[in-house]
Amino acid sequence: MSQLVINRTGPPADVVELQPQPRPEPGPGEVLIRMQAAAINPADLNFIEGTYGTKPNLPCVPGMEGVGVIEALGEGVTSLSVGSAVLPLPAPGNWASWRILPVGRVHGLPKGLEVPQAALLRVNPATAWGLLHAAGTPAGGAWVVQNAASSAAGHCVIQIAKSLGLRTLSFVRRPESIAVCEALGADLVFVDDAEGLAAARTALAARGAPAPRLALNAVGGDSALRLMDLLGPHGTHVTYGAMARQPLKVPNGMLIFKGLNLRGFWLSGWAASMGDQGMTELYQKLAGLALQGQLRQQIAASYPLEQFRAALKHAAGGARNGKILLTFPEEVSPAPQALP
Ligand SMILES: NC(=O)c1ccc[n+]([C@@H]2O[C@H](COP(=O)([O-])OP(=O)(O)OC[C@H]3O[C@@H](n4cnc5c(N)ncnc54)[C@H](OP(=O)(O)O)[C@@H]3O)[C@@H](O)[C@H]2O)c1
Repeated sequence: MSQLVINRTGPPADVVELQPQPRPEPGPGEVLIRMQAAAINPADLNFIEGTYGTKPNLPCVPGMEGVGVIEALGEGVTSLSVGSAVLPLPAPGNWASWRILPVGRVHGLPKGLEVPQAALLRVNPATAWGLLHAAGTPAGGAWVVQNAASSAAGHCVIQIAKSLGLRTLSFVRRPESIAVCEALGADLVFVDDAEGLAAARTALAARGAPAPRLALNAVGGDSALRLMDLLGPHGTHVTYGAMARQPLKVPNGMLIFKGLNLRGFWLSGWAASMGDQGMTELYQKLAGLALQGQLRQQIAASYPLEQFRAALKHAAGGARNGKILLTFPEEVSPAPQALP
């Protein structure tokens, strides 16, 4: 059994190391989790580089999300049983064969959830839910606009918005991403450029749609500005990612005359404000959506932990068409999946 460790921050391919990991024993009130799969997210790469919102406490096992099964129970633990699938909530730490956690810091998952989908439940579905509620409870039929819609977060926004009765106008940077978003239930999808913006305006007008009140930005730069252009007066523009690594450009009139409300979103801070009970209820809801097939994420490839360098390289590249998963020894790697 093994784990991935960093002893310093820097380029992931240079600083991540594989180490053997002996099986630990859970203490009173703790559980031992045998990890099955863990994602490589942009946040993991930024965390390892030292550019994320929190810095690694070195040496550190990275990994913001993953799924495992209970292998052993510490003294006094009765709420979970050996063999149950669980979502470890504290992060990082998921790129390891074993995790020991207090029983209150793991979330029991319903039976029947596919391992790869369960491994992707903690971050992007919860983010999409939080984003869609960033300006309060969204009114049914309202339009939400977003960029980076080919991302896992973008796919979750499309599907969760649909389950909430909202409509989505999405921008993608590659034309081939349009069909995937549409298959997930996106209402309107355009390429993220000036022509795409003009086409989006025309399409909204043709539908007699009210001006969008909520925009979700994971790119920055001109792309974020296009979302501001589409928002109606006093709309809310939420930045939660910066994939283009370009700052926001905000024309003065967007604040003075249009009265836009510009804000940010970070899952860690939002989850803390929701509290343990709130997040438990949310993960129950999200697992339910996944189980019913209403929330599905794309997986580009799965790599056994030992092949972490190839996995990190794949995850850092663009045009992936899905997440990269790490799988663990003694586990059969889940086959790559495509959306129907
Ligand atoms: N604030 C939070 O709490 C929070 C939580 C979750 C995620 N996020 C952020 O949300 C973003 C998406 O995360 P994810 O896990 O969903 O990502 P992902 O599935 O790995 O997808 C990455 C996305 O970024 C796009 N992209 C990559 N490089 C780009 C560039 N230079 N310019 C424009 N777009 C680019 C990709 O487009 P292609 O498909 O065309 O390659 C794809 O849509 C990230 O910035 C992540 O950090 C933030």
